[in-house]
Formats: sequence, structure tokens, C-alpha cells
Amino acid sequence: MYSFRERLESLKKRGLLRKIRDREGPQGRVITIKGRSLINFSSNDYLGLCNHPSIKNAVTRALSHYGTGAGASRLLSGGTILHEELEALISNFKETEATVIYTSGYTANIGTITALTEKDWLILSDELNHASIVDGCRLSRAEVVIYRHKDTEHLEEILKKERTRPKMIVTDSVFSMDGDIAPVDQIKKLAERYNALLYIDEAHATGVLGEGRGSLKQFGLSSAPFIIQMGTLSKAIGSVGAFITGSSEIVRYLINTSRTLIYTTALPPHDVAAASEAIRIIMDEPERIKRLWENREKTVTGLHSLGIDTGESETPIIPIMVKDNETALRLAEHLIENGIYAPAIRYPTVRSPRIRLTVTASHTEDDIHRLVTVLKEARDCGLL
Ligand SMILES: Cc1ncc(COP(=O)(O)O)c(C=O)c1O
Repeated sequence: MYSFRERLESLKKRGLLRKIRDREGPQGRVITIKGRSLINFSSNDYLGLCNHPSIKNAVTRALSHYGTGAGASRLLSGGTILHEELEALISNFKETEATVIYTSGYTANIGTITALTEKDWLILSDELNHASIVDGCRLSRAEVVIYRHKDTEHLEEILKKERTRPKMIVTDSVFSMDGDIAPVDQIKKLAERYNALLYIDEAHATGVLGEGRGSLKQFGLSSAPFIIQMGTLSKAIGSVGAFITGSSEIVRYLINTSRTLIYTTALPPHDVAAASEAIRIIMDEPERIKRLWENREKTVTGLHSLGIDTGESETPIIPIMVKDNETALRLAEHLIENGIYAPAIRYPTVRSPRIRLTVTASHTEDDIHRLVTVLKEARDCGLL
């Protein structure tokens, strides 16, 4: 039989071995792992909606009416009026013509990028785009050119040479491991000037930027027929799944051609109900986003006061850059020993190892103070 022991040993030697640490309770500000309570700086539950009472009530109602699974693909009998309602709600929230739900951000990226581009197309993709975009590009039959991170001059250089081919520019709006923001305003101008489609991954912008509505709103821009936005329901929205939103023509085309939409079971109704309730809460309670950003500022100020390098971060995703994998692992262990959960992120997720902190609206002043104190100790004993 095949053995993967050597490959596993090689990963271990290079400090790249991963292990799963499961929780014993809900996602949130404090999580329990192996009986230990840890202040959680590792979730994408930016607004604290994963365990919200009115969302749980909405889920219970949907569950008792519709049952558990969707039971079929959306194009068969998998959809419910809850799916339709959520799509209408998202179109309204994002000020777009139409929306369609996918079962995850990963499959939305793969299924949309592959459906919209063809063999004679060119995809221009930021070098730090998420793995699901990378995989969507790999699976597409189009030619893929990677442009330097957020470098609009480099992007324009490539666009200038490719005036005649159909093109799509693909970018995360918030980069998931560095927490910096793409220059969406300049990229939109380039897409317009060079007649390209613009595909924006709003996974970490949804619920976070532009009053929760995302990067276009943040930059004071509106949607346009050449813009396709992907947003996840799994991060600030606190459920699971994703959406593609944009022109009705593109959404209709995806419903007809996107393989990860057609050939998979629809999202269960209770997850859909959770997402709808979460979006209503985001619209009704802007103070959550305000708190998120206040906490983000307090954390960054604390880290900078220790001389910690937070890279290019501009959002609640705050990397702590370290010199190697071993340091990242030791620092993550030090944090756990001191009651804080923030795992090490290493290759191939990132090129340079780091601890990726995510701050949420649920964190308290004491949590942030504790984090900074523990990091100060780590710095003083040479771990940073
Ligand atoms: C930028 C980005 N895009 C897409 C995804 C995939 O989303 P999901 O977790 O819903 O599959 C993620 C999350 O891991 C992400 O960070």
C-alpha cells in the first residue's frame, strides 16, 4: 500500500505540519478547547453573530418548517422561498440587480470564474488572492496572468498589451492573510478603461467595510454591469454559504452554466434563514461595525506600542509577522498557555509565517489588554 509517512515527516521537519483543534462549545469571544477557555483571536465571526439569539430563533423556525437538508440541487427541488428572500435581501443590501446563493465561498469562486471565462480569455489575478480564486483560475480554460500585489501600474501594463481579448480582473477586496485593502476604485477605473470584467471577492469585506455592504460602498462607488461581487455568508454573516451578486444577465448565465451551483445540493433552509436574519441585524445595528473598528484600532495601537510588525494591515485582520515557522509555532503555543487562541499561519497559505489575529466586535477592552500583555511577555523572552 501507499504510505504517506515520509511526506508527513517532511512536513514536520519543515515546521509545516497542521493539526485540527476542535471546540467544545460555540464560536465566539471565548472558546473552549480540551476543557480550557481561551480568548479567541482566530475567528472570522467579526460581528459576533455565530451564536446570536435572534439568529438561532430564525434557524429553529426554519428547521421546524423545512426540516434539515435541502435534499436536491437548487435547479431541482433544493430551493425554498427562504433562498429567494435571501437573494432579494442581498441585492437590496449590495444595491445590485440580482443575486444567487452558493454553498460556500470556495465553490462560488471556482464556479463563477470558470463559468464566465473561456479559452480565448485572459484572467488578471492579484498575486495574493485567496486559494479558491487561484483554484478557479487553474480550473478555467483561460490564460491566467498574475499581477503584483495591489500594483495597478503593473495591472495596467498587462491590460495595455491585451486590448482585444476578453478579460477579467480578479481581486480580493480585503486580503485574508494580510488584512490590507485592494485599491478597488483604481481597479474599477482600469476595468472600465480596458473593457474588462471585474470580479471582487468580498469574503472579508462583507459586514466589515462600507457599513457592512462591502468595498464598493467603502470607496463611494456603485455597482455596474461589468462588476461581479462574491461575498461569503460564513464570516461576518455567521452562517455558511456565499453569494454572487451583480447584473441579472450574469446571474442568469451562472444559473445556467456554473457547475458548482448546478451539480451540488442547495444550502439547507435553516442556514439561509440564519444569513437573512444576520443581514437584518447588520442593517439595524450599525454599532456592531463601529465596535469592531474601535477594537481593531485599540489592538493595533497596543501591538505597535510593543514595536510589533503588523505588515500592511488596514482591517480587523492583523498579522504578526515572525521570522520563521518555528517561531510562529512557539508563539502560538505561548499564547495558548496564556489563555489566548491565535494559531500560526504558514506556507502554503502564506509565503512568510505569521500569527493571524482577527479582532471582532465581541472582544472587550480586557481581552485586548490581555493579548497585548501576553505578547509583551513573548517579546521580552525573545519569542518575537
Ligand atoms: C478571501 C476568501 N475568499 C473565499 C473564501 C472561501 O469562503 P468559504 O469559507 O465560505 O468557503 C475565504 C475563506 O476562507 C476567503 O478568505
